[in-house]
Amino acid sequence: GKRLRPALPAAVLVLAGCEGRQSALDAAGVSAQEILATSWILFIGGAAIFLVVMALALYAAFVRPERFPGRSAWVIGGGILFPVITLTALQIHEFALARRLATLAPEPAFVVEVTGLMWWWDVRYLVPGQEPLRAANEIVLPAGRPVELRVASADVIHSFWVPSIAGKMDMIPGHVNRLPVVAQRPGLYRGQCAEYCGAQHALMAFDVRVLPADEFDAWMAAQRRPVPEPATPELARGRDAFFALGCQSCHAVRGTEAEAMTGPDLSRIGARASLAAGTLPTRVETIAAWIGGSQHIKPENRMPSFDVTDGETLNAMAAWLESLK
Ligand code: CUA
Repeated sequence: GKRLRPALPAAVLVLAGCEGRQSALDAAGVSAQEILATSWILFIGGAAIFLVVMALALYAAFVRPERFPGRSAWVIGGGILFPVITLTALQIHEFALARRLATLAPEPAFVVEVTGLMWWWDVRYLVPGQEPLRAANEIVLPAGRPVELRVASADVIHSFWVPSIAGKMDMIPGHVNRLPVVAQRPGLYRGQCAEYCGAQHALMAFDVRVLPADEFDAWMAAQRRPVPEPATPELARGRDAFFALGCQSCHAVRGTEAEAMTGPDLSRIGARASLAAGTLPTRVETIAAWIGGSQHIKPENRMPSFDVTDGETLNAMAAWLESLK
């Protein structure tokens, strides 16, 4: 009783950490549920076996030592038969699970191509009968509909992992890996590159937004419209500064003359939860800070710091970008 009490707050803290936006213990997708169930089987099974073995060891050592020496039944049963049966059962479970996860979306509603780059994510929605739709660093999925993710890399090996939705999938240059997913619970989840890929591997995260299926259709339709004209003179000044600074030589904003593919697509960047691959929350101040000091915030990334630009211009540009929703 009393001696356990100090451990309680720590245990609560540890478990509370599992309910976050990025947790394999907080499953919000079919694959994640299956993986979580398997984790529990392994954990509970392993704990039970450990306890039985420890109990037997103590019993043999202290209580009835004379019952154990030279008993081949224990060696054959506990040392050969039991492991063979248990490991074979787990292997069969694993084969069946791998097959179920790989065939989760035999007829996906659409495909999302996700390309890993040092250190961000290029996203392309391929919906049958529609033009491809490009985005970056955030993937929006409809709850309950099967979707096929096709993941690859444009430079080094990365790994795509959204623990709440599905298992890891490596992103390999020159090879497309397929990861079928069915997201179940609407919400905002966090993904993270799970393969060391250079200086900013830790700042290579992304968001997955799961919308109710009908809201998803409205979202997709809105995405396809060109971005609105600046509503105020300040926003217009921000847009002009964006082009004067040459941002369009790397970035694209749908419906404007910015159409470059080198950097992240910035259409609707204001609607994304985070900025610079999960590095900062999306706000006017953080966008301005990023443009002015990207090399300070995320050294060695491909975007130069525009630190010669005055604060007022940076703020106007940031305000325009933030207004793209
Ligand atoms: Cu990309 Cu680690």
